[in-house]
Amino acid sequence: MFPKDFLWGASISAMQAEGSIDNRGLTFADLRSQQMNKDLGYADTSVAVDFYHHYKEDIQLMKECGFKSFRMSIAWSRIFPNNSTDINQEGVDFYHSVFDELNKNNIEPIVTLFHFDMPYWMAKKYNGFVSRQAINDFVAYSKFCFEEYGNKVKYWLTINEQTVLAFIPSLQGLKNFKETYQAFHHMSLANAKVIKLYHSMNLNGKIGPCISYSTTYPASCDPQDIRLAFFQDDLMVFSLCDVHMYGKYPQYFLNWLKEMNCEFKMELGDEEILKDAIPDFFGLNWYCTEVIGKYIEEDSFGNYDGPDMPRQSRTLKGVYQYYKNPHTPYSEYNWNNDGIGLHYSLRKMYDRYHIPLLITENGWSANETLGDDGKIHDIERIDYFKNMVEGMEEALNDGVELMGFNPWSFIDVTSSSQGMNKRYGLVFVDRTNEDIKECARIPKDSYYWYKETIEKYTK
Ligand code: BG6
Repeated sequence: MFPKDFLWGASISAMQAEGSIDNRGLTFADLRSQQMNKDLGYADTSVAVDFYHHYKEDIQLMKECGFKSFRMSIAWSRIFPNNSTDINQEGVDFYHSVFDELNKNNIEPIVTLFHFDMPYWMAKKYNGFVSRQAINDFVAYSKFCFEEYGNKVKYWLTINEQTVLAFIPSLQGLKNFKETYQAFHHMSLANAKVIKLYHSMNLNGKIGPCISYSTTYPASCDPQDIRLAFFQDDLMVFSLCDVHMYGKYPQYFLNWLKEMNCEFKMELGDEEILKDAIPDFFGLNWYCTEVIGKYIEEDSFGNYDGPDMPRQSRTLKGVYQYYKNPHTPYSEYNWNNDGIGLHYSLRKMYDRYHIPLLITENGWSANETLGDDGKIHDIERIDYFKNMVEGMEEALNDGVELMGFNPWSFIDVTSSSQGMNKRYGLVFVDRTNEDIKECARIPKDSYYWYKETIEKYTK
């Protein structure tokens, strides 16, 4: 049974939705998207899907759908465009207006402080999170947000997908894994400090990290495959969750960093900082399950998304590789539909940490264009969500404390890997990579299915 206060909603991020780049500082996400625009023709972040000007209309659509929550992020560079001190008042006011509009419509904002959009000034000044200075700047920025918006926002997320940031150096404008893992450690510290700070401010809300969580099945019952799958989950998911919960990097993780020559420097007192803060919940970005087994080149299934994407880089040449799961349907982007996998994964996470869980991303991507009837009949997405709802219900019945479901994405946004080609929205945004048009909003069939589903579980 879904509890009455379950947070039914959906997600977006600032850099992928807002646009209005002239009203904020440049970020590394902008530079990366501009490069992909040049090389591959993908839409960049400068207009994105113009949430900046459409937010009122979007919030009305959320309300009509019955949303209880909306996960979004604040663009750090809209608040602090040039450095860590000079505030952009217009940017500050923009988020006030969005939160006011959400609250007016009884929709809880769930707000991520840092979702892939590293301000360029940080990188230029001191190489971003590679430097400890970034920890102080992140804490100061977070403090500003808590003071400014703390009475309007009750759910906060610190850093989106820290592990993905480590696996895609270009997201932070970095060059190699040595740098990204130093940045990774500094993000762990920043996360702990911000959680501690938030708790000390007694703002009567909850805060947690946002974890990239996909579950790995072994390709066979060969003990080697089982160990590889287990290792993959530990490396990509649980090593970080352990740091958040126990304030300590697991030994296998430190061994792996050493093997890869990616060891990071820790200072005296760092472990105390990590131990000093426990999150109130975990935000989980969970999309699909993956299958890995021994590396046999000929059989390789490239669970491949585009240049520089984590799922591709997770195939370790000579060590392990991805296999296709013959028991689950796949999207055209090779992410599968596995509701049983969600049930299993929620249980696995909850049994390990006994911490409340909030789904902050989950979704089905497709290359979509309007049909002759001016609509999008996204049957496969509906089928995917039906399985996810079943998976969540089973987990809830098993006693998992699941706070809500905020799939990716509410409206179509620019994909982090494929511009406007790869769409996830419940609501279609009428623009292409080349032609921005009016960015008109057109609810897809999945939007209407979701509305009925929310109604069914909340009446
Ligand atoms: C998550 C990110 O990793 O996956 C989102 O938090 C991203 O920002 C989403 O858009 C889907 O990835 P992609 O590359 O398919 O857009």
